[in-house]
Amino acid sequence: MASVLKAVRGTRDLLPPETALWSRVEATARAVFSRYGFGEIRTPVFETTDLFARSVGEETDIVSKEMYTWEDRARAASEKAQSLTLRPENTAGVVRAYIEHKLGDTGMLQKLFYLGPQFRRERPQRGRYRQFWQIGAEVIGPASSGSESPIRDAEVIEMLAALLNELGIQGWRLEINSVGSSEDRQRYNAALREALAPVKSQLCEDNQRRAETNPLRVLDSKAPEDQHIINALPKIADYLDEASRVHFAAVLEALTACSVPYHVNHRLVRGLDYYTRTTFEFTVPPSEQDGSGLGTQNALLGGGRYDGLSEMLGGPKAPGIGFAIGEDRLILALQAQAAEVPEKKLDAYIAPMGKAQNPAALSIAKELRAAGLRIEVGDGAFRLKKSFEAADKIARRIVILGEDEFKSGFYIAKDFATSLQRLFTREGLAKALKQKNWQINDPLIRSSDPLKQTVGLRMPALMLLADAKSALSNEELRAFLALALGTPLRDLDQEIIDNMTSQLAKENLVIGSNLGWQITASGRIHLQSEMRKDETSENTD
Ligand code: HAM
Repeated sequence: MASVLKAVRGTRDLLPPETALWSRVEATARAVFSRYGFGEIRTPVFETTDLFARSVGEETDIVSKEMYTWEDRARAASEKAQSLTLRPENTAGVVRAYIEHKLGDTGMLQKLFYLGPQFRRERPQRGRYRQFWQIGAEVIGPASSGSESPIRDAEVIEMLAALLNELGIQGWRLEINSVGSSEDRQRYNAALREALAPVKSQLCEDNQRRAETNPLRVLDSKAPEDQHIINALPKIADYLDEASRVHFAAVLEALTACSVPYHVNHRLVRGLDYYTRTTFEFTVPPSEQDGSGLGTQNALLGGGRYDGLSEMLGGPKAPGIGFAIGEDRLILALQAQAAEVPEKKLDAYIAPMGKAQNPAALSIAKELRAAGLRIEVGDGAFRLKKSFEAADKIARRIVILGEDEFKSGFYIAKDFATSLQRLFTREGLAKALKQKNWQINDPLIRSSDPLKQTVGLRMPALMLLADAKSALSNEELRAFLALALGTPLRDLDQEIIDNMTSQLAKENLVIGSNLGWQITASGRIHLQSEMRKDETSENTD
C-alpha cells in the first residue's frame, strides 16, 4: 500500500468549524482597520533573499537560521539565478512595495494592512509554527505627511487595544519601550559589548555568539540561565538622545489620554534590526495562570517604528510604524478564553422521505437558502432514523418532507433543543426557521390565508395552535386533519369532517385529547398536555 502523506512538520490544516473563528477574527480586524482608515495591501509570498537580509538583519535569528531560501534556477541564458525566500514577515515586503510603486510621491500617509501566511523554520511547538499567519498593518509616508509623529504610534497601539477588546481577548498586557535612533543604538551596543565582555563566558552558546555579533539580541533571549546577567545589563533608556526621549514621552502621554494601559519594559528591543524608537508587544498571561493557551509563546503581537528602513532598501526617507499579530496565537488565546464561537449548527436539515422526494427537497432547500438560511439536504434513500441522527448532529431543526406533506402543502419541522414539532406551510417555513426559539405558545405565523395561519405540532399527535377554524374551507380542513390524524387524505371522509366542524362550535370541547390537543369554541386549537416524548422510532432525544 502507498505510504500516507502528511502535512509538513510545523504546518497544519485549518478545518471547519475552527475556521469560522478565523473568519470572524479576520472580519473583525478588517472592520476595525477600516474605521482607522487602512486599506489592504497584498504582497508576494516570496521575495528576494536580499530584501530580508537588508531589512530584518543578517544577524537576527530569522535571517541567520529560520528562512526558507532557495536558489531559483535561471530558465534562460539571459536570466540569472537568484536567491529567493519565503517571506518570514511582511514589513519588508510592504516597504519594498512602497518604494517600488512610489507611494511616497503622493505626499500622503499610507495606511496599509495585510493578512497572510509567513514562514520561519523555527522549532514547532504550541503557538509556534513554520507556516503561521499574521494580521498586520503599517503606517508609512514622507516625514511631511506626519509619519514620524508620536500620534501615529499611539493611534496604531490604541487601534490594537480596540481590536483585542472587540474580539474579546481578556487580560492583554501592553509592553512598550523605545530603542532610540540608530545612533542611540550604536552607543548602546558599544555599552552592551563592554558590559558583556567580562561575563560572556558564563552565557549560553547562542548568547555568546550574539554578544559578539549583535549584543542587542542578547536582550531578547529567553534562556533562563542567563536572565540574571541580562537583567543587570545597561538600560537603553539611558542612551536615548533628547529627540527620542521626547518622542517616547509623547507616545506614552497620548496612550494615557486614550486610556490604554501600558508597561514600560526596558528589555523590549524586539528581534528584528529595522526598529527605531517605539517598540511594543501585546501579551496574554501564560496558560498556567488563566489558560491563555499559549504557554511560553505568549506574545500575541509585536510591532514598532522603523524610521530608516526605506533608506536601507534604497528608497526615500519614509518613517513608519506597524505591527503584526500572530493570528494562530490570537485564535489559541480566544479558544482558551472560551470566546463565543459563531453558531455552528445549520438552521435546518431537510429530510426527504423516499427518493421521489429528493428533487422537491432540493427545491425547498434552494428557497430557504435564498432566504438566507443555512440548510443541509439529506437523501431520500436514508431511513427516518438515520435522517434524524444526521440532522441532530449538524442542524438545529429537521424538516420532514414526505409524500403526504408535499401533497397537503404542510411540512413538519422539529426543533431538537425543545423537541417541539410544528406544522408549516411552504411559505411559512422560512420565517419559522428564522425564529431563534420556538415556544409552545408562540404567536402564529400570520398570513392572509387563514389556513396558512395554522401552525402545529405532531408527535405523539399533531398539536395545533391555531385561530384558523372559522375560515377553513372543507378542502383545507381535510388536508389539515389528514395530517393531524396521521390518516391518508383519501381515507378522511366527509363524515369525519362534518363531525369535527360541528364539534368546533361547542365550548371547550376536547377533540382528540388522546392526541394531546384541543380545540376551543373560539377556534383556538391548543396544547392539551405537556409535550410528551416522541414515541416514534425516529426520535433522537
Ligand atoms: P514579529 O515579532 O517577528 O514581528 O512577529 C509578530 C508576531 O507574529 C509575533 O508576536 C507572534 O505572535 C507571531 N509569530 C512570529 N513567529 C511565529 C511563529 N513561528 N508561529 C506563530 N506565530 C508567530 C514581525 O513580524 C514584524 N514584521 C512586525 C512589525 C510590523 N513591525 C513593524 N511592523
